[in-house]
Amino acid sequence: MQITYHGHSCFELVNEKNILIDPFLSGNPLYNGADVEPDIIAVTHGHSDHLGDTADIASRTGATVVCNHEIAKYLQSEGIMAEIMNIGGVFEIDDVTFAMTEARHSSSINNIHAGGSAAGFVISENSIDGNSNNNDSSIIYHAGDTGLFTDMELIADLHTPEICMLPIGGRYTMNPEDAAIAASWIGADIVIPMHYNTFDSIKQDPMEFVELVGNLCDSEVIIMKPSETIEI
Ligand code: NI
Ligand code: MN
Repeated sequence: MQITYHGHSCFELVNEKNILIDPFLSGNPLYNGADVEPDIIAVTHGHSDHLGDTADIASRTGATVVCNHEIAKYLQSEGIMAEIMNIGGVFEIDDVTFAMTEARHSSSINNIHAGGSAAGFVISENSIDGNSNNNDSSIIYHAGDTGLFTDMELIADLHTPEICMLPIGGRYTMNPEDAAIAASWIGADIVIPMHYNTFDSIKQDPMEFVELVGNLCDSEVIIMKPSETIEI
């Protein structure tokens, strides 16, 4: 599968389907304007740097949005097709399985509407139990915006993620130290840092994260540059 990083917390997973996570594009200084054509858009929480351009992209492409109850109701009121799930639940659409995980964070929509609970996703293709049986796909854990919490170990036990995206920016989420501990608990083969260097308030040196992870576990850190695509 291909993974493209559009900066901040926005990733595009391309295999049988095109899955776009947290499409913060307009206003994202790290986004290079590349075209996006998702089949499915997964939204971790309502903050504008995650919900982002979801409504516009879904209107243009007909993509289905997967998100929590509150965000789905908001999007449906705007005429967008949104599938409701919630934390602890598993939902399959188009042979892609989404497990919605806890995230320690808040959520609101346009700073006005209640956004429900913030979340993360474990995403896998062609499976209903979280175990990928498609050799070209990997089990991906996108942690959303979150502080460190010990149930990341439970998420790892339940879903055995192979690739995980962790926020390292600090201030609103984990910093590199906490994210390295998270990486050691999750035990994925590959860890990709996110949610840093978009704004001055979340400036971090990702090389520090590489070193901290190296001290704690065997996971390989891949630092993706904005607009970079990797093949896994
Ligand atoms: Ni947030
Ligand atoms: Mn955020």
